[in-house]
Amino acid sequence: MASQTAPLSDLLVQHRPGHALQQPFYTTPEIFEADLETIFYREWLYAFPACMLDKTGAYQRLKIGAYDVIAIRDGKGEIRAFHNTCRHRGSVICSASQGRVAKLTCPYHQWTYDLDGKLIWARDMGADFDPSQHGLKPVHCRTVAGLVYICLAADAPDFDAFAGTVAPYLGVHDLSNAKVAHQSTIIEKGNWKLVWENNRECYHCAGNHPDLCRTYPEDPTITGVSADGTFPEKVETHFNRLEGAGAPSRFRMGEDGQFRVARMPLLDGAESYTVNGKIAVQKRLGQVPFLDAGTLLMFHYPTTWNHFLTDHSITFRVTPIGPQETEVQTTWLVNKDAVEGVDYDLENLTRVWTHTNDEDRRVVEDNQQGINSPVYEPGPYSTTHEDGVAQFVSWYLDRMRAAHTPSTLAAE
Ligand code: FES
Ligand SMILES: [Fe+2]
Repeated sequence: MASQTAPLSDLLVQHRPGHALQQPFYTTPEIFEADLETIFYREWLYAFPACMLDKTGAYQRLKIGAYDVIAIRDGKGEIRAFHNTCRHRGSVICSASQGRVAKLTCPYHQWTYDLDGKLIWARDMGADFDPSQHGLKPVHCRTVAGLVYICLAADAPDFDAFAGTVAPYLGVHDLSNAKVAHQSTIIEKGNWKLVWENNRECYHCAGNHPDLCRTYPEDPTITGVSADGTFPEKVETHFNRLEGAGAPSRFRMGEDGQFRVARMPLLDGAESYTVNGKIAVQKRLGQVPFLDAGTLLMFHYPTTWNHFLTDHSITFRVTPIGPQETEVQTTWLVNKDAVEGVDYDLENLTRVWTHTNDEDRRVVEDNQQGINSPVYEPGPYSTTHEDGVAQFVSWYLDRMRAAHTPSTLAAE
């Protein structure tokens, strides 16, 4: 299959607008590698909620393709990120996926780094050795309204336009006062783009998500981008009511389509993603002014979509593992003072999205298996329901064409 594939630059040119991508985009190691190089090694990537690093020295390890990164809270309370590779002979420094340390000490020969990455101890290295030249290599790291992002590129793209747009929307959710109530990490046997394409439409919802459909409207004018960019009167009224009460809600999209933020209503009267539609957490996270304020939807390609609700918030992180394997990590955040069993029941809080994730995993895996057939041919998107998929694919193709089309290559 891979050996007969046309070059990526040809496939990018051949793409038929309004249609799914050709098979190699979902199957070949070559295009998977190009996706990592072009997108995941260059863009800002959502990492985790900042509240996961609640104390000095608390760290999380992140693996993205070939990279291994430590994000850690330093002595000044800032979250920083470093490459998890020792400046002596390269051992990983943190071998656990998370933990808490006073200093970063390499397990091999005990070179020791401060939480700001500076090398502070290295035994018997001779008079000429300069510790200041052997600090940990930094990774770009930014926190916006309680959400940590990293960027692996030497020169990171702009983050301020995204952060400046979404921070006011997130402000009312008070994520700095959150704690993790639950986290799930699942592997979907499908290409990362299939995970995203599935996320960007609700054409599949009625047939696959019985629990979610109790509260989440499948109407694409509510949950996605309508073709003419307008919203029904009901949604306009919802925006005005929420904005009038101090909760930014109106639909905004990044200039190049990389992110979107909008607070959208749930089905009539619903407050949260629960089976009965009522809030799941009595001690609410944030100060959203009404219980029926809906859900703040935020996505940022290539790694995260989110639901910020009246009572709790849910973040999702997408990490590509292989051409046909993707990790999806889901984190349920509640008020840090909410007590399980008193303010919320964990099963009630997590049920809808645990089921929805599992249902999405199944449709993504079925999608991948069908695409693997030699007779797979990219079919057309629904003009009513799949504008969001087309929008994602177009963002992806723009990024890939900028790096891989012949004119770009010739100019290099
Ligand atoms: S490789 Fe880290 S101290 Fe030697
Ligand atoms: Fe779904």
